Amino acid sequence: MLKIEGLSKSYNKGEIKAVDNISLEVKKGEIFGFLGPNGAGKTTTIKMIVGLLKPDEGEVVLDGINVWDEPMKAKERISYVPDNPEIYDRLSGVEYLNFIGDMYGIRTEVRIKKIDYYSEIFKINDSLGDIISSYSHGMKQKLVLTAALMTDPDLFILDEPMVGLDPKSSFNLKEIMREMCDEGKSVFFSTHVMEVAEKLCDRIAIINNGKIIAMGSMEELRRSAKEKESLENIFLELTDNE
Ligand SMILES: Nc1ncnc2c1ncn2[C@@H]1O[C@H](COP(=O)(O)OP(=O)(O)OP(=O)(O)O)[C@@H](O)[C@H]1O
Ligand SMILES: [Mg+2]
Repeated sequence: MLKIEGLSKSYNKGEIKAVDNISLEVKKGEIFGFLGPNGAGKTTTIKMIVGLLKPDEGEVVLDGINVWDEPMKAKERISYVPDNPEIYDRLSGVEYLNFIGDMYGIRTEVRIKKIDYYSEIFKINDSLGDIISSYSHGMKQKLVLTAALMTDPDLFILDEPMVGLDPKSSFNLKEIMREMCDEGKSVFFSTHVMEVAEKLCDRIAIINNGKIIAMGSMEELRRSAKEKESLENIFLELTDNE
């Protein structure tokens, strides 16, 4: 589904190497967790995958489509939920959803069905007529999630999705992620919470200082953590965060 090869990115004219030669593959039907402490390079990697930040080196390929060579073709199939839901404040919720629906060319019947379904799950259906500037942080996040899910993506990419959601919404989102993968779609999300990754993910990559230091199922990672001191330290650091 998604293949990343040799991806690197520096900031400040090369002074800060945020992402350093990362390669990984997300398979069809898989929930893939991107786990790492603050500043590890998670957001930078995600922005390069979704076409927001040009890589210094490396490739991002979605089912044979190079995201940076054929951006429109790739983006049609990806939904991205950023860590901060900064959206058009002056639209109402439903105007925003229709704007996204127009961009993705979603038929009206499908649009209504999906909006009803997801806004009901996230309990924002009664607020869709209100202006977005009146929404709480969590409501904005749920609106962005509804919009992202409305497009029925093959690859769903989320940056720290559980932050800012209450336990019930967080639970619902996890259920939706699992359902999507059962339908053969793929989910890639970042987190610094080990417990979330452990419970939800089929496979995990651990990133630290811009480098992937381990990859596999949580069980595999735990086993190798006993042998590898760096991995053990990361685990401790991530456990402290919880
Ligand atoms: N615009 C920028 N200019 C300079 N340095 C940046 C910029 N964005 C990120 N960095 C640096 O790049 C590194 C990786 O940042 P990134 O935001 O990718 O980490 P992250 O894993 O998403 O962290 P967090 O868990 O805090 O969200 C950090 O050292 C950060 O300070
Ligand atoms: Mg981040």
